[in-house]
Amino acid sequence: MNAPASKPSATGLPVAIRDLRKSFGEQPVLKGVSFDIRAGEVFVLMGPSGSGKSVFLRHLIGLETPDGGEIRIGGELATSEDIGSKFHLAIVFQSGGLLNSLTVAENVGLYLTEHRLKPREEIDRVVTEKLALVKLDPGVGAQFPNELSGGMRKRVAIARALVGDPQLVLFDEPTSELDPLVALTIGREILNLNERTGATCVVVTHDRDLAFGIADRIGFLNAGELVVLGTPAEIRASPHPLLQQFLAADFHPQ
Ligand SMILES: Nc1ncnc2c1ncn2[C@@H]1O[C@H](COP(=O)(O)OP(=O)(O)OP(=O)(O)O)[C@@H](O)[C@H]1O
Ligand SMILES: [Mg+2]
Repeated sequence: MNAPASKPSATGLPVAIRDLRKSFGEQPVLKGVSFDIRAGEVFVLMGPSGSGKSVFLRHLIGLETPDGGEIRIGGELATSEDIGSKFHLAIVFQSGGLLNSLTVAENVGLYLTEHRLKPREEIDRVVTEKLALVKLDPGVGAQFPNELSGGMRKRVAIARALVGDPQLVLFDEPTSELDPLVALTIGREILNLNERTGATCVVVTHDRDLAFGIADRIGFLNAGELVVLGTPAEIRASPHPLLQQFLAADFHPQ
C-alpha cells in the first residue's frame, strides 16, 4: 500500500490551517494549529485519544466554528456558507453518521439524488459498485443502518463518501471496528480514490499500519498541538519523545 510517487493532475483542494484555536468551556482543545494540506495528497493526522483530531476534522466541514484563526479550503473560508455549493466535500464520521430512516442504498446514493445528478438506474449502478468496493453484497442495500454491525455501517459510510468524486474527503478513524483484512481493503480504497480522482484525502486515525501504509505526509497531534509533521520516513526518524512513545506503545484504539 505505498503511495505513488506522482499524482494525477489534481482536482483535489488544498487546505490551509492558520493558528486554529478552539476551547470547550475552560478546556482548550486546539491550541493554535497551523499547517498546510497539499492539493491531491493523502494527509494523515495521528494522535492519542482526546488530542483533538475529531474536533479538528469537524472544523474542516464547518461543523465547528474556530475561536481564533482560520481554515481555507481551495482559498475559501471553511465557515463560509456557500462552500458546500462551490466544492464537493465528503466526510466519513467516526460513528458512521448514516441516516437511520433511509436504506443503505439510499444513504450511499444520497449525494446523487440530492443533487439530481443521475437517472435512477445509473444511481443504482453506482450504489452497487461502491458497495462492492467496500466488500458489501448488493442485498445489503435494502437493509437499514441499524440492522447492520458497526463494521458494516462504517463500510457503508465509506461507500457513501466515495460517490460523486469529491474533491476533499475526510475520514475519521476509517478502520476502527474493522477486522484487519477489511482494514487493509479500506486503506487500498482510500489510495484508489486518491489516485483515480486526485481528491485530497485527510485521514484521522490511531491505526499506525494504515497511517504508514497510505500517507504522503503525517501530522502528529498531541494535546491540541501539532508537534511533528513530515513524510512517513521523516516521522519514523523523528526523535520527538511523545511521538516515539506513541509509535512504540502497544497502543489499542478505542
Ligand atoms: N462538543 C464538545 N463539547 C465539549 N467538549 C468536547 C466536544 N467535542 C470534543 N470535546 C472534547 O475535546 C477533546 C478532544 O476531542 P476529540 O473528539 O477531538 O478527540 P480525538 O483526538 O478525536 O479522540 P479519539 O481518538 O478518542 O477519537 C476531548 O477532551 C473531548 O472531550
Ligand atoms: Mg476522534
